[in-house]
Amino acid sequence: MQTRDPLTTLFAIRETGRPPLILAPMAGVTDAPFRALASRFGADLTVSEMIASQAMIRGIARCLKQSASGDPETTLAVQIAGADPAAMAQAARMQVDLGAEMIDINMGCPVRKIVGTGAGAALLRDESLAGRIMESVARAVSVPVTVKIRLGWDHHTRNGVTMARIAESAGMRAIAIHGRTRAQMYSGVADWEAIGEIKSHIRIPVIGNGDITSPEQARELWHKSGVDGLMIGRAALGRPWIFREIGHFLATGQTLEPLPLSERGAVIVDHFHAMIAHHGPRTGHLLARKHLGWFTRGFPGGAAFRDRINHAPHSEAALEMLDAFLDTTLASRAA
Ligand SMILES: Cc1cc2nc3c(=O)[nH]c(=O)nc-3n(C[C@H](O)[C@H](O)[C@H](O)COP(=O)(O)O)c2cc1C
Repeated sequence: MQTRDPLTTLFAIRETGRPPLILAPMAGVTDAPFRALASRFGADLTVSEMIASQAMIRGIARCLKQSASGDPETTLAVQIAGADPAAMAQAARMQVDLGAEMIDINMGCPVRKIVGTGAGAALLRDESLAGRIMESVARAVSVPVTVKIRLGWDHHTRNGVTMARIAESAGMRAIAIHGRTRAQMYSGVADWEAIGEIKSHIRIPVIGNGDITSPEQARELWHKSGVDGLMIGRAALGRPWIFREIGHFLATGQTLEPLPLSERGAVIVDHFHAMIAHHGPRTGHLLARKHLGWFTRGFPGGAAFRDRINHAPHSEAALEMLDAFLDTTLASRAA
């Protein structure tokens, strides 16, 4: 029997005239319910939250929850972080045993807690160790392994091309590049010319990432850089249907009608229930509030709603507040 290779399937989407669209890994966000939502609205691949390899090996239950699939239809790509080649290999094997169909290695996370352990973007400053980690993980598992990097540590040390070459020879099947340095964190704008430059030096597929917020801009950045895939993070917060909007525009050149507000409301209510089912009533309610906050950005009365919902004592009260907010907003739109 021929085994399905999710990465080959993913990049075969290019034959339809558009690049595949990927939900960026986001700690505290891309759990199973949100990944399922993004897939439903056209993300061709979603990536789990980052999972620390050491915690995974120690069997911390939260890690199992973080990497749970939640949706049999969706490829389970799990991102792992760490600085020890053997531990990373072991964590990758454990994830594959649990059902991961792809492994992504985090070499871009800028936060001090991660960088301080030598993981995430810190590996951009240790090319030799980065290469050994990639080789070790690629050898340990039979599923495709990818890596996600930034352009370099800082303005003076933009070693993206070298890192991409290392990734290619270490057996990475694709590389995702966030067009900022570690020093930039999230400031400034993502440099898609630099992403395109890296692409021109390697043969494995390159996934461009950083600041995509609209279908028109996605097309412009895709053309400008020549990348093979587009990764979208923050713009999908509260707006998971952005994948459908971008996919449709890239494939047809036509702008899709905005999703009606009533449907958006139904989506967010369903997602709230999915969060409770996945995380349990208490944690589910707390985590779902964040999504409600993003979802109500820009709506009249959104700020007051967010204030109220943050004081909702339990999920039933929060759902009642959400229903009332949607009714008022829909009524005012209809008026
Ligand atoms: C809340 C949040 C959590 C993130 N967590 C991760 C992570 O776990 N692993 C990772 O590689 N990148 C992480 N990122 C970075 C994103 O994957 C992405 O590279 C970045 O947000 C730029 O893309 P965007 O402009 O489309 O948001 C995170 C970003 C945000 C906003």
